[in-house]
Formats: sequence, structure tokens, C-alpha cells
Amino acid sequence: MQISVIGLGKLGASMAACFAHRGFKVIGVDISHKVVDAINNASAPVQETGLNEMIKANRDRLKATLSHEEAVLNSDISFVIVPTPSDERGAFSLQYVSWAYKEIGRALAKKKNYHNVVLTSTVLPGSTRQVLIPILEKESGKKAGKDFGVCYSPEFIALGSVIENFLNPDFTLIGELDERSGSELEKLYAMVVENKAPSARMSIEMAELTKIAVNTFVTTKITFANMLAEICENIPGGDVDVVTRALGLDSRIGHKYLKGGLGYGGPCFPRDNIALSFIAKQLGVQAKLAEVTDSMNRSIPNRVTEKLKEILRPNSTVAILGLAYKPFSHVTEESQSLYIAEALSKAGYRVIGYDPLAGEMALQELHGHIVVLDNLKECLNQAEAVLIATPHPEFEKLEAEDFKNQYRKVTVIDFWRMMKKLENEDHINYIAFGKSNDDTANTKRLKQIWLGTKEKPSEAVKS
Ligand SMILES: NC(=O)c1ccc[n+]([C@@H]2O[C@H](COP(=O)([O-])OP(=O)(O)OC[C@H]3O[C@@H](n4cnc5c(N)ncnc54)[C@H](O)[C@@H]3O)[C@@H](O)[C@H]2O)c1
Repeated sequence: MQISVIGLGKLGASMAACFAHRGFKVIGVDISHKVVDAINNASAPVQETGLNEMIKANRDRLKATLSHEEAVLNSDISFVIVPTPSDERGAFSLQYVSWAYKEIGRALAKKKNYHNVVLTSTVLPGSTRQVLIPILEKESGKKAGKDFGVCYSPEFIALGSVIENFLNPDFTLIGELDERSGSELEKLYAMVVENKAPSARMSIEMAELTKIAVNTFVTTKITFANMLAEICENIPGGDVDVVTRALGLDSRIGHKYLKGGLGYGGPCFPRDNIALSFIAKQLGVQAKLAEVTDSMNRSIPNRVTEKLKEILRPNSTVAILGLAYKPFSHVTEESQSLYIAEALSKAGYRVIGYDPLAGEMALQELHGHIVVLDNLKECLNQAEAVLIATPHPEFEKLEAEDFKNQYRKVTVIDFWRMMKKLENEDHINYIAFGKSNDDTANTKRLKQIWLGTKEKPSEAVKS
């Protein structure tokens, strides 16, 4: 079986390399000359762990072209992984996929053999059957399910571990137009995945829903842990890790993605709740859980800014350590750090930042709101407050001495509770997110709740 991969970006390039690594002849397609040239010169078109090495090792089996026709005519199955950006309604735009499907359809018209067309891009229920299959049928003059196969089969990967996740998934998700399309894809996955992962086969619409259901469920779990973190901050001795560690032991819940912290970001998670809520509304159904998850996550930067305003004098310098949406990433899309930087800058603070990989991207996105330094120590030198925004090991290695500078006391807000060693240092006001930082005030508040108080409820809340 020969495979074509259409769209060689953050996900597609790794998928093409993985198919080649597993022994298949692969032809990749992209509209960008730069991307096609990179693959043909055996180098990675995007930054991803292990990708460059994998492409080099499999250069004999992996080629790229600008021509969809060449790719379709020289393969038996095509995976389509082009962008589906959010549109103004919060749905996923089919603009790029439709264009790719037009090209594929035209190529199918010239093809004698059966061909399976598999969409991997994230789309909402109805997109494949209502919009994309008609494009293929119109352009090819052929019938889906008879002359060619159609599947919807998204991947569950995290940037930075795309190759590992693709080769060792928890399961493969196959939405199939008909038995033949699904069986052929299942057989292929059985030869590609290294961990004998089961396949979940279903209708195309159910697979389209399952993809965003998985993502939105995970974001709900993250947000639940963040809610607990805030509650713990207000209970004497509160510590969100104590609660989530126990919670995760319940086999119905589990530990993954259950850590109170700074909220989620990146290219996928933030848009999925909005999209789920969009499709639910269109169907006349409420998706309040998705809306609340999204709005709670988006409220974090403002809450952090308000908290800092209580501690810091106006115009002071705040350093943000970690600007990408997660450690070991150069991606700053929907990064909580950047939203916080913008909010702080608008509130009149001088914001400086450091990230081992994402400095340049952050500067491009936040020009005028942040000064990005390429030296961590220099960043600490200038800061009156330091926010540890991503759990990067480089930050964990910092010692209390490193925070000493011209200021008498430096406030450190540790969103991931990695720096307990800073707790009792005279020159540091250490605040751990998700932990009680004032047991006296928290005890007083609990007393007021349970033993009664003469204060009016509104005053109790204020204090
Ligand atoms: N990045 C992720 O973490 C991730 C995870 C799961 C799902 N997805 C989904 O996968 C899809 C692709 O995401 P990505 O992050 O790889 O995007 P990307 O922007 O990194 O890459 C897309 C590539 O497609 C190319 N392209 C655009 N139109 C094309 C066309 N008509 N023919 C051929 N190539 C074309 C672009 O030049 C680009 O190289 C999206 O739907 C996304 O939601 C992404």
C-alpha cells in the first residue's frame, strides 16, 4: 500500500514520517514550496521531537510534491491534514479542506483503482458527509462508497510528542462511510501503530463528535482542578495537590490532566469548547458545560492581574518565566502567559519575559507589551515580581540566591508549586497557586461561615 499525506504541517509532517518509518512508501503534498523542498531535502519542515532524524532515516521512502494529482495517482490512500481554523461563529472553517478535496476529486476522476480518502483535520459533525463528500463526487464524477472510500479519522496527539503519540495511541478513531473504507483503514493502522491499540469504528458523524468530545472532556478536567486550586487557596492548610492526588486514585477519575495550574492554551484545546457549544446551539441543545469551561479558562489572566495589583506597586517590573503554552514548546498560540503579559502591560506594569524556546514568537505576538530577554538571570535581576508560568525544569533549578536583586523583597508566584524551597526566604514573598498563603485569614473566614458573624455577608466576602 502506498500512502499520500496532504498537508505537511505540525501534524501531517510527523504522520508522513511515521508511515515511512513503518516501511510504507509515502508521498506528501503541501501548497508551500518551502515545506515540499524541506521534505525532499530530508529535513523537517516544522519543529517536532525526533522528526528531523526520522525524515533523514527514511528519505528513500518519503517524497513531497506540490501536486495533489501526482500524490493521489501514486497512492492507494490519502490522509488530509490541512488547517481548519476557527471562523467568526466559532465553528471550524472548511475553506482549506474544501480546496484540498477539490484537487483530490479531480485526481480521482483520472484514477482507475479504488482510493480511500481519510480526513484527519478537526471538523464538526456533518462537515464530511454534507460538504466534503459532495465535493469529491462532483469533481470526480464518481460515487463515494462505491468508486472510492471515505473516512474521518483524527489523531490525539500533543505537540512535542506527536511521533510517540501517533505510533502509540490509546485507540484509533475511525469514522467510516462504509465497511470497506473502515476495514482498509483499520488494517493499515494495525500495521502502523506499535502498541496494538484498539480501533473505535463508527459513523463519520459520531467520529467527528468524538474527536472534540475527547478534547473538551480533558479541558473540563483541567478546569475542575483549577477550580479546586482556587478553593484550596481559601482554606487553612489548603493544597490542591493533596486533593487531586487522592482524587486521581479513584479509577473513575485518574490522575492525567488533573493538576491545578495556569489553565490550558495552545492551538487545539481553547477552540474546541467554543466549537462544541456552536454545534450544540445549532442543534437546539445546550452545551453550558463547554461554555463555562471556556469562560473559566479565559478568566485566569484577569484574575492573576487583579491579584497582582493587590500586591505590587503600580509601574513595577513583572517577569514572566515561560511564554509558550507549555514547556519545551515554541508555540505561543493562546498561551496564558501572553494573555497575562498583555493584561499586566495594559494595567501599567512593565512586563519582561523569558522562555527557552518561545521568546521570538512571544515578541512577535506581543510587540509593545513585553520585553523578551534571552537570559533568565537577567530577567530575575530586573523583576520585582516573578511569575513562574510553565513547569520548565530550567526554572525548577533556580535557587533563592538567584532571586536576589536591587529590591528588598521579590514576589514569586509559582503556578505549578515547584519551588517550595523559596518558602521561608526573607527576601522572597513566595505565593504558591492552589495553596493557602494566609492560614490566619482563611481560618477566620471559615469561623465566620460556621460559627456565625455579625458582619453582613457582603462584608464577609470582601474580607
Ligand atoms: N497541531 C495539533 O496539535 C493538532 C492536533 C490534533 C489535530 N489537529 C488538526 O490537524 C489539522 C492540521 O493542523 P496542523 O497543526 O498540522 O496545521 P499546520 O498549519 O501546522 O499545517 C497545515 C499544513 O497544510 C498545508 N496546506 C494548506 N492547505 C493545503 C492544501 N490544500 N493542500 C496541501 N497542503 C495544504 C499548509 O501549507 C501547512 O503546511 C487541523 O485541523 C488541526 O485542528 C492539530
